[in-house]
Amino acid sequence: MIVHQPELRLWVLSGPTGSYVLWLDEEDRPLVLHWGPRLTAEQAASLLDLPRPGFWPVENTSEGMADLAAAGGLRYGAAGLQVRFPDGTRDLELAFTGESHTEDTLVLTFADRHYPLTVESHYRLRGDVIERHLVLRNAGEPVTLARADSATWVVPPLADYRLGHVHGRWGAETQLTRVELPYGETVLTSRRGVTSHHANPWAMIDDGTATEEHGAVYSCALAWSGSWRLTAQRLPTGRVTLSAGFGHDPVVLTLEDELVTPVCAGMYSQGGFGAASRAWHDYQLRHVLPHPGELRPVLYNSWEATGFDLSLDGQIALAERAAAMGVELFVMDDGWFGARTHDAAGLGDWYPNPARFPEGLAPLIARVHELGMRFGLWVEPEMVNPDSELYRAHPDWVIHQPHRRRTEHRNQLVLNLARPEVAEHLHRTLDELLAKNAIDFVKWDMNRPFTEAGQPGSDDHDRLWIGHVRALYAILDRLREAHPHARFESCSSGGGRVDLGILSRTDQVWTSDNTDALDRVEIQHGFSQLYPTRVMAAWVTDSPNPITGRELPLDFRFHVAMAGVLGVGGSLDKWTDGELARAAELVADYKRIRPIVQHGLQYRLAHGSLTGVQYVLGEQTAVLAFRTARRFAQAEPPLALRGLDPLGRYRDIASGREYHGAVLLTHGIPLGMGPGDYASTMIHLVREA
Ligand code: DGJ
Repeated sequence: MIVHQPELRLWVLSGPTGSYVLWLDEEDRPLVLHWGPRLTAEQAASLLDLPRPGFWPVENTSEGMADLAAAGGLRYGAAGLQVRFPDGTRDLELAFTGESHTEDTLVLTFADRHYPLTVESHYRLRGDVIERHLVLRNAGEPVTLARADSATWVVPPLADYRLGHVHGRWGAETQLTRVELPYGETVLTSRRGVTSHHANPWAMIDDGTATEEHGAVYSCALAWSGSWRLTAQRLPTGRVTLSAGFGHDPVVLTLEDELVTPVCAGMYSQGGFGAASRAWHDYQLRHVLPHPGELRPVLYNSWEATGFDLSLDGQIALAERAAAMGVELFVMDDGWFGARTHDAAGLGDWYPNPARFPEGLAPLIARVHELGMRFGLWVEPEMVNPDSELYRAHPDWVIHQPHRRRTEHRNQLVLNLARPEVAEHLHRTLDELLAKNAIDFVKWDMNRPFTEAGQPGSDDHDRLWIGHVRALYAILDRLREAHPHARFESCSSGGGRVDLGILSRTDQVWTSDNTDALDRVEIQHGFSQLYPTRVMAAWVTDSPNPITGRELPLDFRFHVAMAGVLGVGGSLDKWTDGELARAAELVADYKRIRPIVQHGLQYRLAHGSLTGVQYVLGEQTAVLAFRTARRFAQAEPPLALRGLDPLGRYRDIASGREYHGAVLLTHGIPLGMGPGDYASTMIHLVREA
């Protein structure tokens, strides 16, 4: 609900539990008076009676309260909006020109007092999440934009400030870290043209005392899959802002006529990090994912089994074993096309390798469908190997700069999708691939970040950073529309492209190339802070693990992967009959709890040498617990559950044993795991009364 009090120049944006109160000061600056628990319009209006921020000597104390942090005037802090006009004038002087609002949207419009530039600040309520973006319009000569953040979020005064975010690298994505926010500016960013493994465009602020269960959390997340920058600023006056947008230093954008920034979503929540995560998950399931109500199938992916060494017979043999295990979607990975028998050739030539698939993909797809599974295919459309027909025909189609080398990474270069003819070619190629073959699922990979990013012949090289991502989105949108049955997975050497932007046009993401279940416990913990289980693909692979060499029991590997969208990626041709049979039982177990895991509320019960994750959907709950190391022969205590009715009675499906909700919530559930390291269990409870 949005309430406007025109005489006070005040807007109150309220979700079910929180409010965001905006006030226009005498200088027409929108300041945030409140971001926190829900307030009535009357209560919000009374905020104006509180002592006003003023100007101390050399301090503008309202600086850290600006919702539209435009550079200009008496301010020195991080500016989310920074321009340079053609005559060299920097900064903006914005005058408020109007507003329009509905029940759940608000647009505040400002115009520069001299130059023909207008700024619209857009807000949309999605439950307790506020989606924001800017629309900039220029009616004059092109304007240079050094920064155009989608939103600046003003955190209310807290006793202290702690910043939560994830860092990582290839094979070690989404490592959660929580640190006291230092004074100054802390910048989280990607300069890679892709979201990146190294940081993810979200941040959470709490006062340093929040726990998994308690405390206020202020968070924001950017819906963008290219380079980005999020600045957490802690001012000496004690105020904190989070400002996020696309683009990175030192790239600048040119505003010709109009620029629409991506959405930056923000949320205030109570109930600790667990509640914040559940609210973010709920938001994505309701408002971001294209088919949120669907259950993601159990997939098999051939990559770890075959690498580039694949054949029709080999794929069929794997498919037969996968189908017998209960797999529902068979995905053929890299190595099926062009001259792609190794990683130095073929990228860009999206037709079946004639020696490997002389009759095309049809025989394999037919067999996979006959086995009762859907068929999926790997592609990496934004890339080209110099040793490819496409590159030989169009060497100028890649991102490159005059007089600079084209550094190859994994023997590949990036196609410049910002060039319309390149985007058109890609769309046509993929559209034909999907039209000619009964492909149900596309794994869209992107293994090579941008370097030497330029587009010779253009007067604006920097434009490609945004243009590439926009073209990628447009291709995905067009393919989805033309092939509505097809589902898509976002992959970028594992979890290098996971964000709210790509999630609005893909159905799941490949979380990490690291499938070692012990490492995955950590990666999944960080992933779950913002993103829902419903999109988090997790495969069971071989032991020893091909990347880490660690040996882990089959049940442990399965139970960890069952806390996501279960997949299998091992060399099934080498698994013993016993392993295949146990795997089939575990796949069947997963299917029983799948709706709860993929659509239920997630509670992180414990994280450490014992990790427990619980999911609750209606009358059912599932618990997955993993013990990594048992120390000093100490048995872990029962895990106290969450989200149950204390008056309910719950039956354990496996043992038949009945528990009182109140007892499960207070004393917990005995896990019944055997002694030793790497023990794990799955518990499925159904409410009986
Ligand atoms: C990187 C992905 O993360 C892997 O799963 C696999 O698809 C390879 N690329 C194939 O080249």
